[in-house]
Amino acid sequence: MKKKLLLLAVAVLFVSFFISAGLFADSTPQDIINMESKAYTEHKKGICEFPHKKHAEDLKLECGTCHHDDKGAALELKAGDDVQKCIECHNKPGEKPKGKDAPKLTPKQKREYHADMMHAQCKGCHKDYNKENKTKAAPATCKGCHPKTN
Ligand code: HEC
Ligand code: HEC
Ligand code: HEC
Ligand code: HEC
Repeated sequence: MKKKLLLLAVAVLFVSFFISAGLFADSTPQDIINMESKAYTEHKKGICEFPHKKHAEDLKLECGTCHHDDKGAALELKAGDDVQKCIECHNKPGEKPKGKDAPKLTPKQKREYHADMMHAQCKGCHKDYNKENKTKAAPATCKGCHPKTN
């Protein structure tokens, strides 16, 4: 019995050491994620602070609502799993070219544009949610997500 308790104490010590050393930092969902993807050479808009924990825990959204695999199939995740950044697949920074000179893109090419995909996922849900619940709690305007910087 005593031996078991000692083992448990050692295990707890180990885990708290690793957590405080930040070694799990990349594998447990963070509270707030600064959406500042490294592939961008510049951000024209203020950096969006994404309350990840609020979405995953308070709003109780399934991880796979947002995280999917290379076929687009929802991923079942648990804390500790590795997650690919959106930009690893939607790998063109910014929005797709617009206007009359813009090239015609296939659906697959359109999906490459990171900012469009972020907007589709984030704003898409927010708009639906606000409409259904007659609220404005979920930001759907530019400055609701991109704070003014100047
Ligand atoms: C509302 C959408 C959404 C939900 C729900 C969601 N995530 Fe995320 N998650 C994101 C986005 C967006 C990022 C940032 C990815 C990027 O920078 O490309 C992210 C990043 C992460 C990361 C890496 C960043 C970090 O925190 O260190 C992990 C791990 C992660 N999510 C796990 C989970 C798990 C586990 C769940 C379910 C309990 C979950 N996510 C639910 C959207 C979501
Ligand atoms: C491993 C590669 C991969 C990662 C990582 C990934 N996606 Fe995707 N995503 C895809 C593929 C492939 C599709 C197309 C699925 C299909 O054909 O239905 C897709 C589809 C989408 C769509 C729907 C696009 C449309 O035109 O219907 C959105 C929105 C989206 N992803 C957003 C995100 C966000 C946000 C993240 C990060 C949280 C993310 N994706 C991470 C590969 C990925
Ligand atoms: C599946 C639905 C869904 C998706 C996807 C989603 N959100 Fe939300 N989000 C919500 C809801 C619902 C709220 C409102 C919560 C409330 O009542 O305060 C919200 C609120 C927010 C808020 C305001 C938080 C606050 O505390 O007031 C921000 C910022 C936000 N979301 C950013 C994002 C970003 C960035 C993404 C994409 C990476 C995203 N959301 C994807 C459902 C979603
Ligand atoms: C629900 C939140 C949300 C809303 C609303 C939103 N965005 Fe974004 N936007 C994002 C996220 C998240 C990214 C990805 C940034 C990153 O990962 O670096 C992004 C990226 C961008 C980018 C590319 C990065 C940059 O700063 O140059 C532009 C441009 C942009 N958004 C413009 C807009 C405009 C214009 C509007 C209003 C019409 C808007 N966004 C509304 C969340 C939002």
